[in-house]
Amino acid sequence: MTKGPVWHTHKVDRSHREQLNGHRTCLLWFTGLSGSGKSTIAGLVEEKLHAMGKRTYLLDGDNVRHGLNGDLGFSDGDRVENIRRIGELSRLFVDAGIITLAAFISPFRADRHNVRELMGEGDFIEVFIDTPLATCEQRDPKGLYHRARNGEIKHFTGIDSPYEPPEVPELRIVNDGIQPHEAAEKVIRYLQANGYFSQQDRQA
Ligand code: ADX
Repeated sequence: MTKGPVWHTHKVDRSHREQLNGHRTCLLWFTGLSGSGKSTIAGLVEEKLHAMGKRTYLLDGDNVRHGLNGDLGFSDGDRVENIRRIGELSRLFVDAGIITLAAFISPFRADRHNVRELMGEGDFIEVFIDTPLATCEQRDPKGLYHRARNGEIKHFTGIDSPYEPPEVPELRIVNDGIQPHEAAEKVIRYLQANGYFSQQDRQA
């Protein structure tokens, strides 16, 4: 049997960092179609958390694909690797004591499950931004659906590449006919209702 490198436990660990920060950490994983509103809602959640004095970081599809995952495209295999790396990255961020928000299509159930498995109990909160394809396509903020329909972009999620919706996400938000702020508020309420922070934090 080959042995991999052993995880080294340092004296300063996550619990010390959480104590210093004064709050618990978790990974908020936003999944949904392109144009579903994931990044917008995640951004608003981050703003609200930041205003409450929480340490946060938002990992976002378009940004991570410029750097760390700049070598990856949109084939099934590349998407699997994209999510695998982001999962590992998110685990480090959470270990660093930071409330991490990840907004990626993450179309495959198995990949999201793998990220969940990487994280500790209660650390992974799957937020399904459930916006009908027709609405995403109508919004088409980057004109990508139009190009996919014209055959200029191949393997586009929802058009000629699959999206597997979560079966039991912690939170499902139908982002159609509501304001992004309302959607963000639902996430904050979930965190509050599940003991991630208290009512007092909100008023601070
Ligand atoms: S994922 O499927 O691997 O999770 P990710 O969230 O990183 O995707 O990137 C999605 C973003 O890349 C979309 O919001 C869109 O702007 C852009 N994009 C470019 N080509 C595609 C494509 N073929 N399918 C989906 N999104 C694409």
